[in-house]
Amino acid sequence: MSAKQGTLRAGMAIVLSLLVACANNGSSTLYEELGGQQTIVQLADHFVMEIAYDNRVLPRFMDSNVERFREKIIEHFCWIADGPCQYTGDSMVQVHAGMDINSAEFNAVVENLIAAMDKTGIALSAQNRLLERLAVLRPEIMGI
Ligand code: HEM
Repeated sequence: MSAKQGTLRAGMAIVLSLLVACANNGSSTLYEELGGQQTIVQLADHFVMEIAYDNRVLPRFMDSNVERFREKIIEHFCWIADGPCQYTGDSMVQVHAGMDINSAEFNAVVENLIAAMDKTGIALSAQNRLLERLAVLRPEIMGI
């Protein structure tokens, strides 16, 4: 490799690392991209309301403690988005085991979440990042 090629490569490596640093914005956790704790609390409140008005899934929550659900969902979203929270609820398998949740119900809850994210004003890119992290929990929640 000539000296000129070597300089070119070193230059490109610097440009590339700068691009990577910029793309990451220095410090962009999903928690920050979502808008932090205040936004997550608003999101949880909208989410609870969406479920409360959805007859496809509301019967499932009839025996649940809404205040606990709200509190644990806030912790869960914060934790899954790499925010400064500890999730203190039960595991997704433990909570949903035996409920025999079907895919229509799972999809309905995802629709509720999307509507809640829209109402909270969360940007599409952050919505997609959160959905991606929740989608992988599907087998744990549906028990398959
Ligand atoms: C992305 C999907 C979902 C996530 C992330 C999720 C997450 C959670 C969390 C964090 C809790 C609180 C756990 C605790 O109290 O320790 C919970 C409770 C609950 N979830 Fe889910 N869930 C999802 C989907 C569903 C679906 C599709 C249904 C049924 C249609 C459902 C029904 C319930 C019920 C009934 C409770 C309350 C359980 C109780 O009162 O003991 N969830 N869920």
